[in-house]
Amino acid sequence: MAFLERVFSGVQPTGNLHLGNYLGAIKRFVELQDRYDCIYCVVDLHAITVWQDPAELPHAIREVAAAFIACGIDPKRHIVFNQSQVAEHAELAWVFNCVARLGWLNRMTQFKEKAGKDRENASVGLYAYPTLMAADILVYRATHVPVGEDQKQHLELARDIAQKFNNDFGRSIRERGYGEAFFPLPEPLITGEATRVMSLRDGNAKMSKSDASDYSRINLTDDADSIAQKIRRAKTDPEPLPSEEKGLERRPEADNLVGIYAALAGTTRAAVLGEFGNAQFSTFKSALTDLAVAKLGPIGAEMQRLVRDPVAIDAVLADGAARAQKLAAETMKAVKDIVGFVRS
Ligand code: AMP
Ligand code: TRP
Repeated sequence: MAFLERVFSGVQPTGNLHLGNYLGAIKRFVELQDRYDCIYCVVDLHAITVWQDPAELPHAIREVAAAFIACGIDPKRHIVFNQSQVAEHAELAWVFNCVARLGWLNRMTQFKEKAGKDRENASVGLYAYPTLMAADILVYRATHVPVGEDQKQHLELARDIAQKFNNDFGRSIRERGYGEAFFPLPEPLITGEATRVMSLRDGNAKMSKSDASDYSRINLTDDADSIAQKIRRAKTDPEPLPSEEKGLERRPEADNLVGIYAALAGTTRAAVLGEFGNAQFSTFKSALTDLAVAKLGPIGAEMQRLVRDPVAIDAVLADGAARAQKLAAETMKAVKDIVGFVRS
């Protein structure tokens, strides 16, 4: 059965939105708008898998919504909302908890990283996080999911869940007239020059919201001075830039900065090296600063402007949630029918 093409993706409202979130995810969300119907979600249910201060969470939610809009997502043509307003996500996640196997979740590397050594003390939600993520996507029967490289394994799990549901309930799906397969197998869209942006302080660590050092990342709300300072202080090696991509091998910091430049400029590493091959880092860093300030400055300013009007952002989220809920309710109705629940 052919499925209607639809994009879904989510970003957690956990503060410190950074250049990795922008290049790996949000910038690409924007690019997909002309080709697909898109649903972009502030995944607040995912955020609380680790402790979030209720005094700060509302601002963090509005800030992600503001980032979506400031980067160019059109919430009228597409759907922007926060996950907790559509109860069907959690409802489908429960069904998926009963489809996914413990062995599958045990393999998730992100859980191991986030839980750290004290695994016994991690929340059950953190462990079950990937089944909720599968539900986010599949409650809209979305076919394409733009994400950064770090989400690849979760997307594979979502495909496994969709497939197992389709198989386990295959007979019911066919008998009740839902076709051969009920859920599509969602495809990850992990493309471009910056699917894994690294820390500015360590080319072997991912740029992350939770890094203790603010110098490790460029935040979307950083002003021009902070951007310049962070790039100036970014770790490099003593060699000038190579003139070909092969020369970036085993030079993680150089590779990262060139990748960031390429993604911001909308070009390739090869083209950037064509221009800056043999240049010293000081020259390249100053060009990168100009580019980053030109691209991120207006986004940061627009985000600041939008968050000053929480009532307007909440109205966007409420409108998006109402439209999302209609779609999600249709799927849940069919899922209940397929599973065999009695409903009035
Ligand atoms: P999160 O902040 O974990 O909700 O991530 C939101 C989106 O940003 C996901 O699609 C991630 O894969 C992506 N992302 C997060 N960190 C990075 C990074 N350092 N490089 C590229 N993409 C990233
Ligand atoms: N797990 C994703 C992250 O941390 C966020 C997310 C939740 C998501 N649900 C999703 C991404 C559904 C894509 C699709 O980055």
